[in-house]
Amino acid sequence: MVEMGVLEDSGTIQYSKGLEGVIAALSSISAIDGKQGKLIYRGIPIEMLAKYSTYEETAYLLLYGELPTKSQLEEFSRQMRELRYLPKKVEECLKELPPNPHPMDILKVAVAHTALYDPDRLSCCREGVMRKVIRLIAQIPTMIAYYHRVRTGQEIVPPHPDLGHAANFLYMLHGKEPDEEEARIFDVALILHAEHGLNASTFAAMVTASTLSDINSAIVSAIGTLKGPLHGGANERVLQMLDEIGTPDRAEEYVLNALKEKRRIMGFGHRVYKTYDPRARILKEYAEYLSEKYGDRRWISIGEKIEEVMIRELGKKGIFPNVDFYSGIVYHFLGIPRDLFTPVFAMARSVGWAAHVCEYVQNNRIFRPRAYYIGPDYVEYVPIEQRR
Ligand code: CMC
Repeated sequence: MVEMGVLEDSGTIQYSKGLEGVIAALSSISAIDGKQGKLIYRGIPIEMLAKYSTYEETAYLLLYGELPTKSQLEEFSRQMRELRYLPKKVEECLKELPPNPHPMDILKVAVAHTALYDPDRLSCCREGVMRKVIRLIAQIPTMIAYYHRVRTGQEIVPPHPDLGHAANFLYMLHGKEPDEEEARIFDVALILHAEHGLNASTFAAMVTASTLSDINSAIVSAIGTLKGPLHGGANERVLQMLDEIGTPDRAEEYVLNALKEKRRIMGFGHRVYKTYDPRARILKEYAEYLSEKYGDRRWISIGEKIEEVMIRELGKKGIFPNVDFYSGIVYHFLGIPRDLFTPVFAMARSVGWAAHVCEYVQNNRIFRPRAYYIGPDYVEYVPIEQRR
């Protein structure tokens, strides 16, 4: 943080570009140890959740603060399944939308549109807000899958009442039930993406909610923020890069050229982690496993070469693979189209967004930072006829 001097009305001020190191909220949802490469949700290490939990259980943990009992989980899962359906008007609208926009733009439209039909639209009591939140988390996968079916000229596949959150998404997307192993791997990927502190999209959601706007508006802000390539949009670009490189023997030259030209390697670096992202470690194992299973090591071998060169070149600066580096390879083998990688991230992260919004507004204060003015002190107003 840089000390900037004195503002007339507010004493000494400090400036932190990109808000690095700024504590903007108190939270008991998750914590990141960026030096040790550790992540906990409500105190539970991410590795344990990836091993033993499900997305539904993790969502409950993040929203309500503790692991559910058996009957609480059954009730929560039942609610999620019941709320998966989209309002008819939204379904019809998805059929009318053009086939070429990025699905993240469609997701913004669908979330905003769905809000208009939410039976709890005007409710601001805790139960009403929680129903809105669970409805959103349950409906986002349906929005993504329906739009994909429509844009590819296929019939939409309604949600399957007997399938869990992860399996149901793959079912609605592909029109057939995934095998248990695929569903489980996807479930783990969703758990790993569910929450990550005050990342840019969560913060965007909190800023919107801090004005006492509604949760749907907060989620729309978050989706727009996640879309960017420096945030969730990186996962899609990693696969584009692997394509461009083509073979592992070209990876070193590609990376060295990119670094020389000051271009960023997508899927590397993080504001908080200065070591290996623990989520990337788990996703890499699945990417390895699926590459072996399908006998196609094209992507993983290029990825591993990039990792080797990047750590050799930039490891000392704390640049390591982040969650977006290996997730794309996993999604590819699960048959998820490339431009749905970031929407899938949004579908998982919706719970983290909602948990932070709900936590913050309980002790709300509007976010309102300032800019340090570096423009001229006084400029004469020149009438338009005299301007040159
Ligand atoms: N490739 C090459 N150099 C990098 C990279 C990268 N991916 N990331 C950071 N650096 C360098 C950067 O050039 C700078 O070097 P120098 O000090 O010589 O100017 C230094 O590392 C610090 O970078 P920064 O931009 O100040 O770091 P930041 O904390 O502001 O940005 C980041 C974090 C994630 C935006 C950045 O690392 C990046 O652009 N990564 C690539 C995009 C990406 O993978 N995003 C996903 C982030 S994790 C999951 C998520 O949020 O979706």
